Amino acid sequence: STFYLTLHNSVVIPRLGLGTFRSRGEQAKSSVLWALQSHYCLIDTASIYKNEAEIGQALRDSGLERDKVFITSKISPFEHGYDSALLAVGKILERLDCGYLDLCLIHWPGAAKLDVKSEENAVRRTETWQALEDMYKQGKCRAIGVSNYTKHHLEGLLSACTIRPMVNQVELHPYLPQTLLRKYCTENNIVVQAYSPLGCGNLLSDPLVSALAARYNRTPAQILLRWGIQHDVVVLPKSVRKDRIQQNAEIFYFLLSKDDMECLDGLDRNHHFCWSSEEIL
Ligand code: A2P
Repeated sequence: STFYLTLHNSVVIPRLGLGTFRSRGEQAKSSVLWALQSHYCLIDTASIYKNEAEIGQALRDSGLERDKVFITSKISPFEHGYDSALLAVGKILERLDCGYLDLCLIHWPGAAKLDVKSEENAVRRTETWQALEDMYKQGKCRAIGVSNYTKHHLEGLLSACTIRPMVNQVELHPYLPQTLLRKYCTENNIVVQAYSPLGCGNLLSDPLVSALAARYNRTPAQILLRWGIQHDVVVLPKSVRKDRIQQNAEIFYFLLSKDDMECLDGLDRNHHFCWSSEEIL
């Protein structure tokens, strides 16, 4: 549908959400409130963002019913392992104080202080997943998934899991379209979420993006987000400014042509703005 995708367990997920990395304190609270007033139905946070309490407060302040908002949070790399992950989900729920999570993700395939390529880390990751499966079965999370997983990490998870991940959230924009990973995820019924869909703001000044913005009478941000939507990924633009939060939501009533989608696809340079692939491969 126009505004939603459906996960493999039939849970419905909005195609647009607010990113909140580096939004803190009052700024986190006000940006979430503006987003909810601008018809965002998904808020993306994480334990390491240190803003879950403020986001929970904003949700209550909004006066919206709990089931009108989709809340995602993530277990930090410091909380890998079965027992730690169980505790971590408990703490997330306490900080948010919103009853249940709509989606809980493993933030990073690597556990803090372990070599991400080691067998020990692979075992630890699997234990973390078992904790998420149990939280899911208990109804504490309506869906579970991973973040920053490569195809290699997903293969390991799919061969070891009982409940298959519903989401993989990765950095994704035209300089990093994640084409092979998206294909693999689609084949395995995993919805892809795009964080930093504006390339941390770096793609807003790309000449092609600017030219398309002028031609479609839109902003560069809207062109980039629309490109993500038409690739069926959930886009999670981050902003703390009311005007930008509103602008980033106005992406549902225009269509990029097939040719223009292909031109944007052609910007691929496998470039991460958020981390280098050597860190996790
Ligand atoms: P700010 O929070 O001050 O608005 P990404 O989502 O790719 O990580 O990009 C986030 C960055 O882009 C932030 O620095 C944010 O700044 C900026 N940003 C978000 N939306 C827009 C927009 N519509 N126009 C210009 N800059 C934006």
